[in-house]
Amino acid sequence: MIIRLVIALLVTTFGVALPKEETHNDRVFNRELSDKEHFENEHHNPEYDHEAFLGEEAKTFDQLPPEESKRRLGIIFDKIDTNNDSIISREELKDWIRFTQKRYISEDVDRQWRQQNPENNPTISWENYQKLVYGFLENMDPAESEKDNEGFSYRNMLKRDRRRWASADRDGDDNLTKEEFAGFLHPEETDYMRGMVIVETMEDIDKDKDGKISLQEYIGDMYRGDEPEEEPDWVKSEKEQFSTYRDKDGDGFMDEEEVKNWILPEDFDHAEAEARHLIYEADSDADEQLTKDEVLKKYDLFVGSQATDFGEALARHDEF
Ligand SMILES: *[C@@H]1O[C@H](CO)[C@@H](O)[C@H](O)[C@H]1NC(C)=O
Ligand SMILES: *[C@@H]1O[C@H](CO)[C@@H](O)[C@H](O)[C@H]1NC(C)=O
Repeated sequence: MIIRLVIALLVTTFGVALPKEETHNDRVFNRELSDKEHFENEHHNPEYDHEAFLGEEAKTFDQLPPEESKRRLGIIFDKIDTNNDSIISREELKDWIRFTQKRYISEDVDRQWRQQNPENNPTISWENYQKLVYGFLENMDPAESEKDNEGFSYRNMLKRDRRRWASADRDGDDNLTKEEFAGFLHPEETDYMRGMVIVETMEDIDKDKDGKISLQEYIGDMYRGDEPEEEPDWVKSEKEQFSTYRDKDGDGFMDEEEVKNWILPEDFDHAEAEARHLIYEADSDADEQLTKDEVLKKYDLFVGSQATDFGEALARHDEF
């Protein structure tokens, strides 16, 4: 589960409606996407796998007819197969997923850097950033900007950004270099920002502000079921996860250390886990590697298709 969370963080910038400009992703929404959608009925969430496999390109593939998807997938297969033996090994697939993630992040940083800093100055100042991203607050009715939207308000987002900015600003001049800016945008990818990721996550989930996360807060963060509705299976399994794995010392709460083990586990390689998962799903002859045939047969798993994801592609367009 942890893996998916981290990957979803890497591959998702959409879904945040609050900031005016598309800035950086916010954990709560991403976590929702990752935890919830991936586990429903124990089926892997196709979108999740597509994004791990394709990065940003997943969106393009969503709109292709199946034949074209397969054709392009064949080309990708050859790229993944770096030793040209017509077989994809787990190592090759892992390298590819890692490459896709890195590419996604660096493209995202490039794009936002250009947006925030069209003149490509060596740094961006907080003042300019604030003006660009939160400038609209100046003309907003204060009541509106404080308005609480599921625990978020524009004012709070601004405060949080300010704090994250200061934490990314290693040399303390209040301007961010591109490297520092990358840490600001993708703190989960940046060693010195990890503490901030934990702090923000705790704040999001710990609604009663007692410094720890109860089972109720943990579930409440990903699932807001209406009373009459029967609790879906994935919620039941999340509850078990909480008591079995998250709350290691069994005191009924997750403290900071336990949150850290949950969202940024040290010994976990999510590219490796995703590679295993994809191979497991597509490996018809169970030899732990993939031929092009096996991949193309399961093309839905890797890239999706108009047939399965078209509605979703349309919905996403509305969001942008
Ligand atoms: C595999 O094939 C590609 C494209 O034909 C080529 O650029 C690459 O050098 C080959 N790699 C190896 C290890 O032979
Ligand atoms: C910070 O950025 C502003 C605006 O781009 C610039 O005028 C200023 O010189 C920068 N300060 C430092 C210390 O780099």
